[in-house]
Amino acid sequence: ETAGDLVITEKFDALALMTINRPKALNALDQLTLQQLDAAVSAIEADPQIKVAIITGSGEKAFVAGGDIGVMQPLDPLGARRIAVDVQQLLNKIEYGSTVYIAAINGYALGGGCELALACDIRIAADSAQLGQPEVNLGIIPGWGGTQRLPRLVGSSMAKQLMFTGERISAARAAQIGLVSEVVPATGLLARARELAQIIAAKPKMALQLIKEAVNNGREMDMQRAFAYEADLFGLCFATADQKEGMLAFLEKRQPQWRDQ
Ligand code: CAA
Repeated sequence: ETAGDLVITEKFDALALMTINRPKALNALDQLTLQQLDAAVSAIEADPQIKVAIITGSGEKAFVAGGDIGVMQPLDPLGARRIAVDVQQLLNKIEYGSTVYIAAINGYALGGGCELALACDIRIAADSAQLGQPEVNLGIIPGWGGTQRLPRLVGSSMAKQLMFTGERISAARAAQIGLVSEVVPATGLLARARELAQIIAAKPKMALQLIKEAVNNGREMDMQRAFAYEADLFGLCFATADQKEGMLAFLEKRQPQWRDQ
């Protein structure tokens, strides 16, 4: 392993494919991999051409098997807290970024791997994938956002069951509880992720961004403030060229020409 190849980013027009590439350790996130993931996400956020990014793991076995346990074992409390805060910031860059992120879960998504997927906007999984929060088996709690994002997604009861038992669940079960939105045959996972990404990338960027902001920020508000916030963002859409174009194109019975502004 040399610096630069632990997270591989490929660009296809408005679409980026990020592959976490440490298959010998089932793509467990050590410091160098985390640094490269952080740099890769920052580069995607800084690239105005990219609208959708897919995150997947290299190899057939794992998406990401978690934080690197060897790195964490000797940490003192302040060191562990530091890593948690740093990775939370990295995952927040994904959750609150202006790109749409799709987790293509190709295998084990455990601990920090499940938490990485939770920070993405959409999760789809191979039928062979397994997900879980096994931290309890190591004497710790999920520390990369899991105790907060998982209950918001699947409810407190299901989230606590997963975190108390540490049990791994199948992709099919993950779909039943709303942890992933689609399950596809393993061989077709990346094709489906790219298809979904292309559909989304063909939409106007500002609308995508404002939908993401409305959902993410509104979720933290009470309903009355959230409705006011939604109305403000709805108003903001009318400051974009694409709102004028999208509605005009409908009225003129033609396809819109998006300018992503
Ligand atoms: N950290 C470091 N190394 C890991 C790892 C991890 N999270 N997960 C797997 N590996 C390594 C193994 O040590 C092994 O390395 P060696 O070949 O050098 O021995 C290699 O990857 C292959 O793994 P296994 O031999 O264990 O493969 P398996 O098929 O028998 O089992 C598995 C697969 C069930 C996923 C098992 O590897 C496993 O349980 N991994 C740990 C999962 C886990 O507990 N994740 C949570 C980590 S804590 C965390 O993420 C905290 C947080 O909130 C940030």
